[in-house]
Amino acid sequence: MSDLDEVSTGDPRPAEVGRLIFDRSTACARCTEMPALDVPDVDLDAALAHRSRRTAPLLPEVTEVDLARHYEHLASVNFGVDSGFYPLGSCTMKYNPKVDEVACRMPGFAGVHPYQPPATVQGVLELMHGLQEALGEVSGLPHVSLQPAAGAHGEFTGLMTIRAYHEANGDPRKRVIIPDSAHGTNPATVAMCGYEVTTIPSDERGGVDPGALEAALDTDVAALMLTNPNTLGLFDENISRITGLVHSFGALAYCDGANLNAVLGKARPGDMGFDVMHINLHKTFGTPHGGGGPGAGPVAVTDALAPFLPGPVVALQPDGFRLVMPERSIGRVRSFYGNAGVLVRAYAYIRAVGGDGLTEVAEQAVLSANYLKERLKGAFDLPYDRPCMHEFVLSGRRQKRESGVRTLDIAKRLLDFGVHPPTVYFPLIVDEAIMIEPTETEGLETLDAFADAMLAIAAEAARDPEVLHSAPHVTPVRRLDEARAVKEPVLRYSPPCLD
Ligand SMILES: Cc1ncc(COP(=O)(O)O)c(C=O)c1O
Repeated sequence: MSDLDEVSTGDPRPAEVGRLIFDRSTACARCTEMPALDVPDVDLDAALAHRSRRTAPLLPEVTEVDLARHYEHLASVNFGVDSGFYPLGSCTMKYNPKVDEVACRMPGFAGVHPYQPPATVQGVLELMHGLQEALGEVSGLPHVSLQPAAGAHGEFTGLMTIRAYHEANGDPRKRVIIPDSAHGTNPATVAMCGYEVTTIPSDERGGVDPGALEAALDTDVAALMLTNPNTLGLFDENISRITGLVHSFGALAYCDGANLNAVLGKARPGDMGFDVMHINLHKTFGTPHGGGGPGAGPVAVTDALAPFLPGPVVALQPDGFRLVMPERSIGRVRSFYGNAGVLVRAYAYIRAVGGDGLTEVAEQAVLSANYLKERLKGAFDLPYDRPCMHEFVLSGRRQKRESGVRTLDIAKRLLDFGVHPPTVYFPLIVDEAIMIEPTETEGLETLDAFADAMLAIAAEAARDPEVLHSAPHVTPVRRLDEARAVKEPVLRYSPPCLD
């Protein structure tokens, strides 16, 4: 960890910042060599005649070394879990083992065509079947569809499955109950599936308030959608009572399984009374987060819901592994096999870690979070002071009150210490929330360095708040207008000569 004075100055390679590949361009520089022509030569001018363009396109012209340096520079100013600690609560940015990357690039997986007859892709189907079985085992919900492409997509799939179940029983319902600590995708999914959202408050211990739940329940409720452990990092102490209450009204219990990594091998949502859950493979089983790219959010369900699952699912039949559509399936939610490469990575991870290893994942994730919580709770407010699971939520309200330093300032200052900030301002029920999830993949030294940085920042907030207001100080770009960057991105290069 850098010394404080050191981190508040410094300005790495300012000349490089914002330099595009176009800015490196020099006329006639080249880094390609075309191979010798191995087809009959054609006179392109004659062949294209009037359709060929009159002016050359404005493409960058660079040498190979400049090209290599450009991309190397871009990679070096990016922050990822391979470059430093990334304690983004709720998002579980854990290390992605590189061996899983090797596995999914093996020709037998990467080279398969989705239209190949099943008899020729038995290995792929066996792997997917094995993954279905493993996810069924850890969730306690034996029937699994690997189709959904993300956690939020899994939510959509799970709720549509619930919808199909109620409709098949001639009992279409109208509402889905969600606690106020829920992730934003939950109410969005409910609305997308055509249900109304009923939000219930959390109790003073951060769990579902059973009284509020009971008051919200009636026979119009299709489901309760609950994250357990929840987004405060707390295991709901009344979970069996809650799912029992839900069932007593004919409703179903949906588990947002984003936090499954905290209970792997220890407790199973199916045994807690949940009927459906989605599993974010990127949070629990070490597959990469796609940054909007390909992920996987398989859905696991009880026997009663299995006929409605999206297909195809992989079944073992007398003639081998086959892709089958469940009897009353809601249909496809994704093309072909789902995101096959992600599924291979998750399976490789599960097989490499093994059953006991998965239990250790949960133990270590919970231990690391509790360790950090104990180290930090004196310097920051801890709204729910009880043992946490894999993550915990601090509040920066003391710093805001005493020195006008906001949680955003704290997050930005952490960048100067080489740490990606935790999740901030979520969950919404905590004022100035700072949500920290260390994951099981970080060692004690990293955890201590992070705690030291947070404590140093808390001291700085009291002593010299301006350093925090103007942070970050050593990043390639400083404090950005993030809303504008998203809403008005500049995506086109305009050459200086056209300015
Ligand atoms: C609790 C919870 N539910 C759902 C999601 C959505 O998952 P995904 O990002 O895979 O769509 C997240 C993502 O962070 C989450 O933390």
